[in-house]
Amino acid sequence: MPDPGRDWPLVGRAAELDDLETLLTDATDAAGGVVVLEGEAGVGRTSLVDALRSGARLLGIEDAAGPGSTRIGPPPADGRARLVVLEDLQDWPDDALEALADAAREGVPARTLVVLTLRPVPHRDGVVRVVSGWTRAGAQHVELRTLPAAAAAELAEAILGASLGPSLRGAVATAGGNPRFVVDVVTAARDAGALAPVEGGIDAVVLGWRAVVEQRVRGRLDYLDDEVLALLAVASVLGVSFVVVDLAVVVGQPVPEVWRTLRHALAAGVVQARGDRLVFRHDVVRAALYGGLAPDERRGLHARAATTLRDAGAPQAVVATHLERAR
Ligand SMILES: Nc1ncnc2c1ncn2[C@@H]1O[C@H](COP(=O)(O)OP(=O)(O)OP(=O)(O)O)[C@@H](O)[C@H]1O
Ligand SMILES: [Mg+2]
Repeated sequence: MPDPGRDWPLVGRAAELDDLETLLTDATDAAGGVVVLEGEAGVGRTSLVDALRSGARLLGIEDAAGPGSTRIGPPPADGRARLVVLEDLQDWPDDALEALADAAREGVPARTLVVLTLRPVPHRDGVVRVVSGWTRAGAQHVELRTLPAAAAAELAEAILGASLGPSLRGAVATAGGNPRFVVDVVTAARDAGALAPVEGGIDAVVLGWRAVVEQRVRGRLDYLDDEVLALLAVASVLGVSFVVVDLAVVVGQPVPEVWRTLRHALAAGVVQARGDRLVFRHDVVRAALYGGLAPDERRGLHARAATTLRDAGAPQAVVATHLERAR
């Protein structure tokens, strides 16, 4: 599912855009500079660099590399300043990564800001070589984080052009601040015909549209390996947060092996560690994985979860909920 063309403003990125614009003017004034912009899938890297491109044009700085470009290219003979955006290193062919890593030996080109963007997964040696090469050459690193809750709600309101009622507001919160998931939640509700005006705004007033959201969100996850997705789907039965040793018992794998697989989910930003617990960072991802389980499989997993949690000393009420869902 492609992203819809954006006909709403860039929300919640004033500080990030400001920082990049400062780097742009510093770099293009003289010595040049390189920025590595990293962030989870759908966090808004492309939207942010597109805004930077617009800013560059206003400043008379040449936007030198078109979409899909993999080369920095020689500086213009007339000494003009330029912005070179090279997106999505994680998807590049090996030879292009190698060439970009080699280019770092020449150092940062004068009067140029190079912006390299990437998702943290898949992990690839070629990407690591590019990033470490340019780090030695003085690259700055910017980690693009998810939007704060208020900005996520503002984004949803900007898309719909109305204030959110309580049900929709709750659904938007499950996106965990990932703008692509915010867009998916809101457009799924709209496309499913679930929205209606309510006092002071707009809200989801019919049931059943969450399945549409979940289906869209499942389609966003195919960048993760099947093995990782399968393990996360089992974890989704345990809840928004779960203890890793419990997950290992339910899937019947040794704990170190489970951790090895979970490392990718951690790197991707799908889950985060809280001591020996892991937490899904976007509720909507957990719901999507849970909704993608076949009913039989889901019941079987709830039955195993009930036994596992009972043996581990979980409260009776928690065990009972799993037993209920195992039926
Ligand atoms: N700050 C923002 N304000 C408004 N809309 C946003 C913002 N950030 C992202 N979006 C919207 O969220 C969706 C995903 O954004 P975008 O494509 O920029 O993310 P990305 O990080 O480049 O994704 P990918 O990992 O697929 O490259 C798009 O529909 C975009 O319009
Ligand atoms: Mg992108």
